[in-house]
Amino acid sequence: MKFFADTADVDAIRDLNDLGLLDGVTTNPSLIKKSGRNILEVTKEICEIVDGPVSAEVTAIEADQMIAEGRKLAEIAGNIAVKVPLTLDGLKACKVLSGEGNMVNVTLCFSANQALLAAKAGATFISPFIGRLDDINMDGMELISEIRTIYDNYGYETQILAASIRTVNHIKDAALIGADVITAPPAVIKAMANHPLTDKGLDAFLADIKSGGISIL
Ligand code: G3P
Repeated sequence: MKFFADTADVDAIRDLNDLGLLDGVTTNPSLIKKSGRNILEVTKEICEIVDGPVSAEVTAIEADQMIAEGRKLAEIAGNIAVKVPLTLDGLKACKVLSGEGNMVNVTLCFSANQALLAAKAGATFISPFIGRLDDINMDGMELISEIRTIYDNYGYETQILAASIRTVNHIKDAALIGADVITAPPAVIKAMANHPLTDKGLDAFLADIKSGGISIL
């Protein structure tokens, strides 16, 4: 499973990348706004830190404008994945941009039928939003499962990028279903390492290292 950081915070991205845990980054207009940076500048900086795909989202809603913006975003670096919304215009833009050899991430996916359309449009990634479905008393993880089944039924190569991840359990459940990628806030990815028994066991080992005079270097 690939791990993408869902942020435009370059310090947090550098931190995860230095840990060797990062396969890519996803941004969206809200995350760019939160960063307080110019979209082109911050995206370029992120692409210089991370080798894997960096999703940068278009701002237009009409296909022709999305295509023009997508081409401009793709010029930033070779690892840009152009992010387009799951609308008919977005699907049209996806088809054109992916046909030109660009990676395309189709975002704001909330149904299996939407995901099926994105695969037919040649999307590199489909981004179903788990947390936002859970927020309205629907089952985000069931959507991941449905998309997995449909893509496997037909051999679609579009990667399922589970997004709107809020908890470590979202990551575990997406992994059990077989999502190809998760994108999550860096704090959630780092929290996967936490376990009280690990802390307790380490404390006991450290006490024995000290009292036993154990040293290696
Ligand atoms: O990148 C899109 C997605 O991950 C947003 O998550 O928490 O705003 O629903 P959230």
